[in-house]
Amino acid sequence: MTRYKTYRIKRQAVLSEEEGSMMNSAIILLSTIIQLIHCASYPDVKSLLSNISEFTLSEDGKLNFTQLVTKYGHTAEQYEVVTEDGYLVKLFHIPGIRSSVLLTHGLGTDADPYVIRGNGSLGIALADEGYDVWLLNNRGTKFSRRHTELDPDKDKKFWDYSLHEMGYYDLAATIDFVLYQTGEEKILAIGHSQGASQFFALTSLRPEYNEKVKLFLALAPGAFFFNMPPLFQIVASAGPLLLELGKTLGIEELCKDRGALLFLIKTICTKGIISYEVCVRAAIFPFLGYNPAGFELSFLRTLFGHAPSGFSRKCLEHYDQLYLRKKFAQFDYGFRGNLGKYGSRNPPDYALSKITADVAIMSGKLDTLSLIENGKILKSKLPNVVHFEEIEKTTHIDFVLSREASKYLFPSIFRLLQKYD
Ligand SMILES: *[C@@H]1O[C@H](CO)[C@@H](O)[C@H](O)[C@H]1NC(C)=O
Ligand SMILES: *[C@@H]1O[C@H](CO)[C@@H](O)[C@H](O)[C@H]1NC(C)=O
Repeated sequence: MTRYKTYRIKRQAVLSEEEGSMMNSAIILLSTIIQLIHCASYPDVKSLLSNISEFTLSEDGKLNFTQLVTKYGHTAEQYEVVTEDGYLVKLFHIPGIRSSVLLTHGLGTDADPYVIRGNGSLGIALADEGYDVWLLNNRGTKFSRRHTELDPDKDKKFWDYSLHEMGYYDLAATIDFVLYQTGEEKILAIGHSQGASQFFALTSLRPEYNEKVKLFLALAPGAFFFNMPPLFQIVASAGPLLLELGKTLGIEELCKDRGALLFLIKTICTKGIISYEVCVRAAIFPFLGYNPAGFELSFLRTLFGHAPSGFSRKCLEHYDQLYLRKKFAQFDYGFRGNLGKYGSRNPPDYALSKITADVAIMSGKLDTLSLIENGKILKSKLPNVVHFEEIEKTTHIDFVLSREASKYLFPSIFRLLQKYD
């Protein structure tokens, strides 16, 4: 009890000092509303903005995934994998001689951030170590806006998915594809945030996939959201209202590639010190953890050439439910919907006890979204956690984006993978 109290007080102190002001909360609430409204991509807004200013991206902000991998000394291949429910998800491959490692990304991004810091990013660093690296781009991201029948621009049904389907279908198809392609029996897998949620959804519902994974490393996993910081609570509590508003406005896709919202974000967030205040200090740090050393000013011009990437409103809704219901469970369709879909009033929990694969968890000491305490709760519910580690000087996004990840994070990852290689 005492330890828990100390922890909470410390966290609040950090919040109030750095960014917990009401002002910031107001800005964020407002910007969330603006984002939702603009997300639907109105062409007039877009042309207006394009007249006002242009992006000022760095070289690495302009290069695409393939070009970045080439620039940093490797080659990249692209595959399209068809899921059982008809989505075409893009899979990148950086060939190597050691075991295959599959990387899955967080909500609002795609595989790009895994290579945008050159040899200081996990995708390239693993390739430098000789691993055979595979990177999934979940359905709905800018690389995976395709379906055998559905048109993402016309069919709302395309956007009817959350972490559940990205696990059950996208990840399953990808694992099978990598095994087929490499002739291996098992792979190594690393998932950041939602990338971990989708892994747990898959392996709890289709336990046979546990047999296909030597080790799963969950970085800042998103499963439980107890004792969240005040700012998160404010926004997450407003979530149902904002999401309902989005639904009413017919907004199914968020952060559409070349859409107005993305244009707005990229325009505002690539302008130097003002951008850093607005996009990083006011919008990223308060939610995901405060660490200016990991996220320097000049990195804006690279990051916003690649992020955010598209996702469905339902993805956010599912996470909001995980927080509000305090359960790692399937999507809540309401009383009637649940009865029809699951035959029960409430959505079933993901049966974590069925996840027999070796799992490692790394939680960041500065992460204010995937809290260490919640990582420990996850650990207590999984039958086979082989490793749990708290990573110094690491926020939620630092796992993928920090300038210092090669110092604080990669050595732990390499040590762990080595044991399973
Ligand atoms: C990057 O651009 C090159 C040249 O236009 C293209 O051949 C390649 O397919 C692109 N890669 C991706 C991941 O879009
Ligand atoms: C990345 O490459 C540069 C230049 O070759 C080198 O100085 C640096 O140590 C490398 N960093 C890592 C993390 O390997």
